[in-house]
Amino acid sequence: MSDKLFLFTPGPVMTSDKVKQSMAHSDIPHRRKTFENYLERNRANLLRLYNANDEYTAIMVTGSGTASNETALSSIIKETDEVLLIKNGVFGDRLDDILSCYNYTIHRLEFTWGEAPDVDAIDKALAENENIQWVCMVYQETSTGMRNPVGEIGAVVKKNGRKYFVDCVSAIGGEDVNVVRDHIDVASGSANKAVSGPTGISFVCAKRSSVPSMDDVPRRNIYLNLQNHIKWAEERSQTPNTPAVTNFIGLDAALTELHEEGIENRIARYQSCRTIIRDGLQKLGLKLLLSEETSSNTVTSVFLPEGVDVVGFIDDMEERGYVLYPGKGPFHERNMFQVANMGWLPEEECHKLLAVIGEVISK
Ligand SMILES: Cc1ncc(COP(=O)(O)O)c(C=O)c1O
Repeated sequence: MSDKLFLFTPGPVMTSDKVKQSMAHSDIPHRRKTFENYLERNRANLLRLYNANDEYTAIMVTGSGTASNETALSSIIKETDEVLLIKNGVFGDRLDDILSCYNYTIHRLEFTWGEAPDVDAIDKALAENENIQWVCMVYQETSTGMRNPVGEIGAVVKKNGRKYFVDCVSAIGGEDVNVVRDHIDVASGSANKAVSGPTGISFVCAKRSSVPSMDDVPRRNIYLNLQNHIKWAEERSQTPNTPAVTNFIGLDAALTELHEEGIENRIARYQSCRTIIRDGLQKLGLKLLLSEETSSNTVTSVFLPEGVDVVGFIDDMEERGYVLYPGKGPFHERNMFQVANMGWLPEEECHKLLAVIGEVISK
């Protein structure tokens, strides 16, 4: 077994030495200025990352990506609002789980995994039902690696005068997320994916005017209440409860690093790793799930040749130091696996990975 693992996974991801070192800090309390400075810097850096303007606010939640989705979805939908959920993979189903748990009226538009949602069908669904006030969708459907047409759907949502929630957990830091241009009212995100930060911290970027006041929605939970997080952040530069202080500091290092690199450069770096991986896999004779146009910058889904067992393949790869994930749902039976190139992974390591994949499948 190799000592060092290279995580070609869509989270957790590799972090830089700077991020790791930042988290070996001296102990600090959260109810003092030093922590408040971290919190404010993170909020400002997140707003830049989402390309938000001053109509938006950003808050952090201690918890993984699901915590940010649940914080938003448990708090933004009024009792009278109905929801249009667009799904084409596992993470659309996870949004469904959250929305169902809070007993909302949900209208589902389900599309084949690996196929783009039909924008006209969304337009029609909105035109036919005025009670639908929120449209919910995943930006990058991580289970296939598909980049959903967020901008096109955003234009339709705006035209119909509705609101738009987008799960940006695996997209933020790796895709050109722009909440203003794409008419996104509320977006979630997580540190330990394309942002290349620590696990256990996630965030929400929200247009203030799209978040109903505490008087307009019943309080549905305690810890994950978006309005309460916004109130504490905006009024006191604080979190309502004791946060994972170390993760806030790790996120600060990761966001600082990301903005120093420049978001365009980060995306270009991910795109060039993705090209190396896609080309290399095809040279090995493997078939990719998605076309270049619909594939995200950071996740490639690929089928193993018949006769090569995906579970054994993943184990063999890990023995050699490379961690990959098997396909989910119907793709698992079809011998699919995923190569993610999020996080701190140099191009050179992508080339090495391909050589090892070649070695393992020929074995
Ligand atoms: C698009 C998307 N949404 C939500 C999640 C859930 O995030 P977590 O497992 O960090 O709670 C993931 C995880 O991979 C994801 O890719």
